[in-house]
Amino acid sequence: MPKLCIIPGDGIGLEVIPAAVQVLEKIIPDLEVVYAEAGWNCFQKYGVSVLPQTMDTIRDCGAALFGAVSSPSHQVQGYRSAILTLRQELDLFANLRPVRSLPVVSPRADIDMILVRENSEGLYSGLETIQDGRATATRVITRQASFRIAKQSMRIMQQLNRKKLSIIHKANVLPLTDGLFRDTVREVVSSYEQQGYCIDVEEILVDVAAFRMLSDPQKYDVLVTTNLFGDILSDAAAYWCGGLGMAPSLNLGEGIGLAEPVHGSAPDIAGKGIANPIAAILSAALLVRFIWQQQEAANQIEAAVHQSLIEFGDLGINPSVHMPGTQVILNRILANL
Ligand code: IPM
Ligand code: MG
Repeated sequence: MPKLCIIPGDGIGLEVIPAAVQVLEKIIPDLEVVYAEAGWNCFQKYGVSVLPQTMDTIRDCGAALFGAVSSPSHQVQGYRSAILTLRQELDLFANLRPVRSLPVVSPRADIDMILVRENSEGLYSGLETIQDGRATATRVITRQASFRIAKQSMRIMQQLNRKKLSIIHKANVLPLTDGLFRDTVREVVSSYEQQGYCIDVEEILVDVAAFRMLSDPQKYDVLVTTNLFGDILSDAAAYWCGGLGMAPSLNLGEGIGLAEPVHGSAPDIAGKGIANPIAAILSAALLVRFIWQQQEAANQIEAAVHQSLIEFGDLGINPSVHMPGTQVILNRILANL
């Protein structure tokens, strides 16, 4: 029986995650759910952004659905971003960010890419110092992390029958770090080739990759890149599926996954019942597909979202059209399931 740890977090996480849970419960009736706390509310209550029992529950379930957390804009003693803590402590080393054209809301119809972001090191290693007016951040690239993100990319490509891998780096300026990343990914691709699994591979410098994300996004299939480049490129890519309100993601470790809409806690619209639950619902579908391996159920959720978008005609991407509220969108998706 699949088990899920649910962490609504802060802001609109408290609205969109319960909506996504209703979708999951409809499609997987024997799903066992456990609620857990993390985020800024949690920090204010308990003095930590992630409770130790939240970690235990996620480990025990092997799957979590995370909403969003608010972080203060000033430094707060003892506070550390909940999502970064979860990624690090649970060794969620890969971040899958699929971006597909969605009916009605996407600016174009021919996009279907999966960005695989290395999620454990790079400029997110937390090694920052400042002394005498000189601040430095250490960008760590290891063979081990590059190897496992490359293997994860290849596994995804095999599972989804993808044909082209774009390795995105900046090895012209960072020959040691990004050279290591690039060479390690190529080595993994070669080892698959030797076993008879062949794909097209290309290398793109990250600046050129950003240009192409705007000019020819349909040329992307699967992209693999380091942590910060993946962070930036995935927000840019999310434009093509209709914006951050539509963009799902899945943090993956060995035998464990934490799904998370790419958007944040949106305090300006929180509590008003107007948050778009689609990114959270599509994130839940990623758990269904990649953690519980229920392809048909995942397809059904995605199809219900697509059908609902067609029926709504617009979700307020066009400012002249009133956007339906969270509950209305959810009801429509449930009805189409
Ligand atoms: C993301 C977010 C996070 C990141 C922030 C909230 C720390 O931007 O998931 O892309 O930088 O990874
Ligand atoms: Mg980001």
